[in-house]
Amino acid sequence: MGELEIAIVRQGDIDGVHRLEVSAFPSPWRREFFESELHADGRFNLVVRRGEEVVGYVFAMWFFDEMHVNKIAVAESERRRGIAAELMARCLEFARANRIKTITLEVRKSNTGAQEFYRRLDFEASYVRPRYYPDGEAAVVMTKDVAEQP
Ligand SMILES: CC(C)(COP(=O)(O)OP(=O)(O)OC[C@H]1O[C@@H](n2cnc3c(N)ncnc32)[C@H](O)[C@@H]1OP(=O)(O)O)[C@@H](O)C(=O)NCCC(=O)NCCS
Repeated sequence: MGELEIAIVRQGDIDGVHRLEVSAFPSPWRREFFESELHADGRFNLVVRRGEEVVGYVFAMWFFDEMHVNKIAVAESERRRGIAAELMARCLEFARANRIKTITLEVRKSNTGAQEFYRRLDFEASYVRPRYYPDGEAAVVMTKDVAEQP
């Protein structure tokens, strides 16, 4: 097993990112969507590689004092090792350095594992967006106040 490496996403990662996306989400983003995120302004996109393989990523966007986590995923074989927590810690560090006040995200109502993950990081459920996902499932909007410690 190679070493884990966390870096800004680059074009050569997109195949691996998309492969992981398809395995991790019921309504995955299209490949082109990731590519356009790569070139958009106000983005904070990180990949986790083990050797040549993409084993995790976070795609976040920010504007003024708000950050929104669009996507986060870790390969099934690499879960519960703190990789996603490290990605979120990097987002938080970026947010603090850029005077961002809140981080928000949406999570499927049925995705209780991810909700627990975010709660552990002091995110709170703010409200529910009914029929948010293409298959009709509701999203729980979760928010973290960046000023809070840690
Ligand atoms: C959610 C996800 C990104 C978490 O990645 P991860 O690298 O396994 O998370 P971490 O190892 O950093 O977890 C840190 C802590 O969060 C909590 N946690 C993480 N996953 C959890 C789960 N499935 N159920 C309950 N708690 C969980 C635990 O407290 C964990 O610490 P512990 O392992 O010491 O108990 C990963 O499960 C995933 O990719 N899921 C599929 C995609 C997805 O649902 N993304 C989020 C959509 S909004």
